Amino acid sequence: MVLTLNPSMKKLVDSDTGTVSREIFWSKELYDQEMEQVFNRSWLFVGHVSQIPNPGDFVLSRMGEEGVIVSLDRQGKVCVSLNSCRHRGNRVCRYDEGNSFAHVCSFHGWTYDPSGALVALPFNEHGYDEMDMGKWGLKQARVELFHGSIWATWDKTAPSFHEYLGGADMYLASGLLHTDGSDNGSAVLGGVVKWRLGCNWKVPCPDTDTTHGWITHRSMALALGVGPTGNPVKPEIDRSQSVGQRRSRYTVSFPEGHTMGVTIPEMDDPSWAASGVWDDKPIIREYLREKFELRKEKLGLAAHLSVGPAIFPNEGWLGRVVRVMHPAGPAMTEIWTYFFVDQDAPTEVKDALASYYEHWYGPGGMTQQDDMENWYALTMASKGPVAQRLDLNYQMRISEPPIHGPSEFGLPGLFAHNYSDENHRRFYQRWAEVMQAKDWGEMAPTGSAALKPGATLFQGSGK
Ligand code: FES
Ligand code: FE
Repeated sequence: MVLTLNPSMKKLVDSDTGTVSREIFWSKELYDQEMEQVFNRSWLFVGHVSQIPNPGDFVLSRMGEEGVIVSLDRQGKVCVSLNSCRHRGNRVCRYDEGNSFAHVCSFHGWTYDPSGALVALPFNEHGYDEMDMGKWGLKQARVELFHGSIWATWDKTAPSFHEYLGGADMYLASGLLHTDGSDNGSAVLGGVVKWRLGCNWKVPCPDTDTTHGWITHRSMALALGVGPTGNPVKPEIDRSQSVGQRRSRYTVSFPEGHTMGVTIPEMDDPSWAASGVWDDKPIIREYLREKFELRKEKLGLAAHLSVGPAIFPNEGWLGRVVRVMHPAGPAMTEIWTYFFVDQDAPTEVKDALASYYEHWYGPGGMTQQDDMENWYALTMASKGPVAQRLDLNYQMRISEPPIHGPSEFGLPGLFAHNYSDENHRRFYQRWAEVMQAKDWGEMAPTGSAALKPGATLFQGSGK
């Protein structure tokens, strides 16, 4: 089924002309509609199993504006419960993480177990004789696991998470695997880093625009020449040399709204090894090199792929860093960042990576600060009535239709030039479709029938 946008949506997002109205970043009405249409129905990233390894373990997370408790019950099942008491609506759990088989509401003491069931009621003997406690548990989300990552939706009619990915599964899986290519070997390093920024949640979604890198981050990459360890590295000055000759880099999108950058190296080493960025930390360099050899044995060509998938609507990867853009008002976003490492990596490797992640991707990180400055500034410069009437431009390479993945790799997705706005056009097209669709029947993504998903390199689905 091909969806056609209704006139009001077409006014906001026109993928034929490659324009987007600034209203979608400021309108309270549209924001409220997003909470219903987008966040109440989509599959959302809420955490990773490494955060809750033992029965009773829990972490707080979010789905849209709403707080949820992600926990492991006695049977080892991952449960996602709305963190809102069924009595008078109080927030039940106030700790970011912990272990408990009894979440006691601080108002009147209604008590819930890790699966959200109401298990104790003060004064029950005399006060609630007729009440069926089974009906008054915490609201449960549908949950699916994908290579250790935890996804949830409130929508009982939504397709399975695998179907929702629409062929992007192998790209998402690649970020969740151990460096040596084995499954279930990744873990979240430390806690989740959280901060707020004055911009709409869509401004940094998807963050797969490669054209900004050489302008926004130019000072860091070229002038400072700072590498992951904090020490200078040889800057890759001649950009033209690195595109097309050394490796092929594409923007890749799916009609389901998922977007990413995919790099297919034409050399035998991943870019981190060849660039020499870890040369002053031999322990890291050797660890990564050794694990990469194992990865090649397990995954073949797929081991070389470098992918940063952004899963619609608000989850995105930068290497092994996951960022979730939680909406917190039309012009406010709560950014949650998860840093992934190999669970069994030596402490020195984990420590060095922790320092790298913080220096680059934390709220005070070098690349993150560059981006945030622009995201905030563009929000403020788009607020006024004059600015609001001027559409934004997403026209780069609009006349070049994307192609299917390079056949020799058998990769799924629609591939476009590295420097292209195709990913953003797809994202906003999908956003507009979801915003206007009454149900999942109406939400069939435009053009999906033309795709032939089904990666041939390795199986993406699984737990
Ligand atoms: Fe939770 Fe009353 S609001 S027990
Ligand atoms: Fe950036």
